[in-house]
Amino acid sequence: KMNTCNHLRHVESMATLPSGAGKISHLNSVILGEDLASEENDLVFPSNHFSSQALVSSPEKYLEMYKRSIEDPAGFWSDIASTFYWKHQWNQPVFSENLDVTKGTINIEWFKGGITNICYNALDRNIDAGNGSKIALYWEGNEPDVDASLSYSQLLDKVCQLANYLKDIDVKKGDAVIIYLPMLMELPIAMLACARIGAVHSVVFAGFSAESLSQRIVDCKPKAVITCNAVRRGPKVINLKEIVDAALVESTKNGVSVDVCLTYENQSAMKREATKWQEGRDVWWQDIIPTYPTTCEVEWVDAEDPLFLLYTSGSTGKPKGVLHTTGGYMVYTATTFKYAFDYKPSDIYWCTADCGWITGHSYVTYGPLLNGASVIIFEGAPNYPDSGRCWDIVDKYKVTIFYTAPTLVRSLMRDGDEYVTRCSRKSLRVLGSVGEPINPSAWRWFFNVVGDSRCPISDTWWQTETGGFMITPLPGAWPQKPGSATFPFFGVLPVIVDEKGTEIEGECSGYLCVKNSWPGAFRTLYGDHERYETTYFKPFPGYYFSGDGCSRDKDGYHWLTGRVDDVINVSGHRIGTAEVESALVSHPKCAEAAVVGVEHEVKGQGIYAFVTLVEGVPYSEELRKELIVAVRKQIGAFAAPDKIHWAPGLPKTRSGKIMRRILRKIASKQLDELGDTSTLADPSVVDQLIELSDC
Ligand code: WTA
Repeated sequence: KMNTCNHLRHVESMATLPSGAGKISHLNSVILGEDLASEENDLVFPSNHFSSQALVSSPEKYLEMYKRSIEDPAGFWSDIASTFYWKHQWNQPVFSENLDVTKGTINIEWFKGGITNICYNALDRNIDAGNGSKIALYWEGNEPDVDASLSYSQLLDKVCQLANYLKDIDVKKGDAVIIYLPMLMELPIAMLACARIGAVHSVVFAGFSAESLSQRIVDCKPKAVITCNAVRRGPKVINLKEIVDAALVESTKNGVSVDVCLTYENQSAMKREATKWQEGRDVWWQDIIPTYPTTCEVEWVDAEDPLFLLYTSGSTGKPKGVLHTTGGYMVYTATTFKYAFDYKPSDIYWCTADCGWITGHSYVTYGPLLNGASVIIFEGAPNYPDSGRCWDIVDKYKVTIFYTAPTLVRSLMRDGDEYVTRCSRKSLRVLGSVGEPINPSAWRWFFNVVGDSRCPISDTWWQTETGGFMITPLPGAWPQKPGSATFPFFGVLPVIVDEKGTEIEGECSGYLCVKNSWPGAFRTLYGDHERYETTYFKPFPGYYFSGDGCSRDKDGYHWLTGRVDDVINVSGHRIGTAEVESALVSHPKCAEAAVVGVEHEVKGQGIYAFVTLVEGVPYSEELRKELIVAVRKQIGAFAAPDKIHWAPGLPKTRSGKIMRRILRKIASKQLDELGDTSTLADPSVVDQLIELSDC
C-alpha cells in the first residue's frame, strides 16, 4: 500500500467544495487578464444537467475511484483490463513498479503474460458486441463536398485485406513498417493492419521532410513504407511520394534499403500518371489490396510485445524512438478516453490532431475505436475554404466531443466570432485541449463562444512518452479553472520537485514528475535503453521526469508552465532546439546557431534563432531565406524559424557553454532582466546582440 500522499489531501479538500448546483461562474469571470493569481479563484462549474449524466459526477466520486487506483493499482487496473478480450489471462503480479534507477534498471511491465491483440479489441470485439454497422470512421476531405465513411465491419474488412498483403510481403510479428500518410482513412487502417499481425508501426507525420523521414527509416529499418502519391491541404498540393522517393534514396546511401513502397493513389490530389514510379519497389494500393481476402487471422501477442514506435524530439539532435507496448497502452488509452471525455456510445467524436503525432495515435485511432466510438478524420485545413470550416464540420456530423489544440483555438479566435456563431454547434457537449498550456483568455473564448458556455473543457496534460492523459479534468466531476489541467487521472501520482529532487508540498512550483508506474507509459527508447534511463529517470531518482514545469495552487489544481528543457512547443509540436540548430549549421555559411523559444500569439511559442556566420560572410536577406530553407529541408516546414537574429558572437561561459538564459531574455526583449553577465567569457557580445536585435 502506498502512503497517503500530499495529493490525496488536496483532493480531499476539493471534495468539500460545493457541487455544481446552479452556479454559473463564467458570468463573474469576465476579467480576461492572464493573471494566474486571479484565475486561481475562478471556478467554472459543470451544469447540474451535465454532472447528473456523467460517468464521474462529483469530486467525491472521483476521489473514491482515485484512491482505489492509487492504493490498489493492481486491482483497479485488472478490473478494467478484464473488460477487454484476452486470449490468455496475464500472470501475477500484473505490473512492476520500480521507477528508481538507483535500485536497478527500469523495466516497466503491465499485464505481462497476457495474450491479446489491440486490433481485435478495437474492431472484432465491437462487432461481436453488435456494433458492426455502426460508423467507425467518418472521413471529411479537404474539399467540403468530398467525404466517405466506414462502419466497424467495413473497417475490419479493409484492415484484414491490408494485413493479408503485409503478411504476403513477409512482414512478420516484430517487424517495423513506416507509415507516411496524411489524414486519409488509410492511415488508421494501416496502423490497425500492422497491429493485427503484430508488426510495429512507426507513423511519421507527413509534414516531415525527406531527411527526417530517412533518419527514421535508417533507425527502425522497416520492411515496407506505406504512403500516398500526394495530398491537398487547403489550396496546396503536396507531392508526398517525391519526398518518400528522396528519403528512400538517402536511406539506401546509409545502408538501409526498403523493398516495398505501398502507395495509395489519392486521386483528388494527383493522378497516378503524374506520379514518379520505381518498378519493382512501388506498388499501387488500389491495384493490390482489394484482391486480398477480407478476413485475416489475428496474431496474438504478449501484452508487453511492441505496438508502435513514434519518434519525438528531445534535447539532443537525434529524435527518440518512443516505444509503446500492447496491453497497458490498450487499457490506458481506452480508459482515459472514456473518462476524460465522458464518452457515451451516442457520441460523435472529432479530434483535430494528425495521426502522425501521439494525440492521433491514442485519441484518433486506438482510444476511441477501443470504445466503439464514431470518429471523424479530417484531411484538410481548419481555415479552408474559410475559418468556419471546423464549425461547419461540427454541424455536418453533429459532433458532440471536439478535441483540439490551443494554437487552433487562438488562431480561430483571432479570425472573429462570426465564423463560429454562423453555425449552430448545438450538438457539442464536451471540448478538449491538448499540446500546450491553454491561456485563460483562449480557454474562455473556447468555453463561451465555441461551447456556448455549456460544454466543459478537458485540458489534457500528457506526452508522447505517457501514452495517454495524465492530468485532466473529468468533465462532470470538477469545477474547472480556466488554464488549469486540474487533477491527475486514475492511477497517476504526479509530484512537484525542486532542483534537488525533493518533493514539495502544498502550494508550490517546480518540476513535474510522476512517482508511480501507469499502464500507458512507454517502455524504452528504441535501441537505446540507456538514453531512456538517463533522460527520464536519472534527473530525479525515484521518479519519471516529464521535462515540464508545473505549479500547484492552494486548491491542489495543477498549472502546467511549459518545458524546462531544450524542447520548444510550436503550435503544439515538440521541436528540439538542437535539431533546428543542427539544420542551421548544416548551411556552409553558418558558423554557429543557438535556438530559443519565444512567446508567440498564435503558436504558443515561436522559434527564435541566433546565428553567427563564417568569417567574412555578410548578412543578407537571401541568406536568411536560405537558412530557413535548410531547416525546412532537414526537419519540415513546421520547424522553420520565425526569426533569424544575426549575431557577431554568442554569449558563452568561460568553459564555452552557451548561456541560453540570456538569449531567451534578448529574444523576448526583457532586457532589464538579463541578470548577471559578468561570468561570460566576453560580456560585450550581449550589447552587440541587443544592438542587432532589430535587423
Ligand atoms: C506539452 C502531446 C500544458 C507539455 C500530447 C508536454 C501540455 C508536451 C499539455 C508533450 C497541456 C501537452 N497543458 N502543456 N494540456 N499537453 N503539453 O509529446 O510541454 O507532442 O511535455 O505530446 O506538450 O508533447 P507531445
